[in-house]
Amino acid sequence: MRKQQNPDYSVPIARAELAPLPYAKNALAPHIGEQTVELHYEKHHRGYLNKLKKAVADKPEAQQGLLDVIRTQEGKVFNLAAQVFNHDFYWRSLDPDGGGQPSGDLASRIDRDFGSFQQFASRFLEVAKGHFGSGWAWLVAANDGRLRIVDTHDADNPLTRSQTPLLTVDVWEHAYYLDRQNDRGRYLQEVLEHLLDWDFAARNLKEAAQRS
Ligand code: FE2
Repeated sequence: MRKQQNPDYSVPIARAELAPLPYAKNALAPHIGEQTVELHYEKHHRGYLNKLKKAVADKPEAQQGLLDVIRTQEGKVFNLAAQVFNHDFYWRSLDPDGGGQPSGDLASRIDRDFGSFQQFASRFLEVAKGHFGSGWAWLVAANDGRLRIVDTHDADNPLTRSQTPLLTVDVWEHAYYLDRQNDRGRYLQEVLEHLLDWDFAARNLKEAAQRS
């Protein structure tokens, strides 16, 4: 499925709506079960947006778009806004027909910057699995033009470092505990093998190149 690239973040927070899931809630099963997606999207993701709206109500930030809030705010408001973005990006990083390997320019860049796709994959799993506590693992295009794997804590994301995110995987326990209990490694292995949307990553890379 060719999914909407990213939501329109110019909409003021006061009027922002949760971006729809780009597939049915049972579409990622058996790797990520329907109940996990239901809770993750309806409770956690929607909860972050609702709490954000409440936190900025009657303040000037309510008239800012989500990316402006992420770039200008700190503390609770930053955390809530970043979690809305991170989850939008996570759902779009996955696809029921995903997995496999990238092709074209993205594949060449991965070979150049990591040695091979296999080396990228094992490093990505190592970073994501080894991340201490709650957070995110990302494939990003860094400012020097190279692709990098980064992990961020809690709600933090690559936008705060002016890096361009290409793909992300949520490593908060709520992303996998119902399906895999404490086996984060198995969740990550299945996401990598069956769900990562390399077309989404390739389009993000292309858009970043057009902007620079
Ligand atoms: Fe999450």
